[in-house]
Amino acid sequence: MDIREKIIELKKSKNAVILAHCYQNVEIDEIADFVGDSLYLSQKASESDADIIVFAGVTFMAQTAKIISPNKKVIIPSLDCGCAMADMINLQQLREFKVKNPDIPVVCYINSTAEVKSECDICCTSSNAVKIVDSLKSDKVLFLPDQFLGKWVESQLNGVEVITYNGCCPIHNQVSAGDLKLAKAKYPNAKVLTHPECKNEVTELSDYVGSTTGIMKYVADNKDLTEFVIVTEKGVLDRLRRDYPDKKFYLIRQDMICSSMKTNRFEDIYNSLLNETYEITLDEEISKKALGCIERMLQVSK
Ligand code: 13P
Ligand code: SF4
Repeated sequence: MDIREKIIELKKSKNAVILAHCYQNVEIDEIADFVGDSLYLSQKASESDADIIVFAGVTFMAQTAKIISPNKKVIIPSLDCGCAMADMINLQQLREFKVKNPDIPVVCYINSTAEVKSECDICCTSSNAVKIVDSLKSDKVLFLPDQFLGKWVESQLNGVEVITYNGCCPIHNQVSAGDLKLAKAKYPNAKVLTHPECKNEVTELSDYVGSTTGIMKYVADNKDLTEFVIVTEKGVLDRLRRDYPDKKFYLIRQDMICSSMKTNRFEDIYNSLLNETYEITLDEEISKKALGCIERMLQVSK
């Protein structure tokens, strides 16, 4: 048996599912049950009746699955998979942010730790952030950790002030308006598809702004279009090139690679399933409080 077959065997015998984010190495899709963006994967975690969830993604995603499914074993194949943006705000910093801006509802991006979620009102992902902020019916909202997603949401809503924490994604933050202008000059017929974690000067110049799955869906829905500049992590580009060999895709910069997302190989997934490591464990109180924050999001997103 090759390693793929062994993984499939183990999944069956242990009643396990593999959830994979679309920034993972593209070959992971061959053994994953579900591949998609953060919202899709959290929905799949909440619907699953598996005993074990293997999360091929970053830590906050696996923590979210554990919070939603406290009775399941949630495992990550590698310990080296933190999200630099999620680590930009801790509980102490969140409390200070709230003290500076009292009596305003607090929205946290799903890219945050379980501790941070436990003291926020509602969470959101890149695909539902506008809907979530709008659902609060408040003229002011605190948003963390991603300043750019927060300000992009503000630009999509009329009359809501989004007060942002100053976090960002170091990978998406590399892209400048200059990069976009160059790409547009080089590929004048291409549509520019951008993740909202990019700077606002970048999203403003884009043809479409959306989550990782949103970007892939845009390509699927626009069958007549043939050229695209992809302004997010390389995993999305790799999947698009695989799925649409006749279309042209250009990555905005060659360094759009999230190293935390690229740690998992077949061997890691196999060892993880075999040994049931590394297990996500969370403080029960924190987990219960964070669940409210996530459930409110899932409810609004239905
Ligand atoms: P998505 O929810 O759009 O997949 O984004 C997750 C992420 O970490 C993007 O950098
Ligand atoms: Fe976190 Fe950025 Fe990597 Fe997404 S791309 S997981 S926000 S570090």
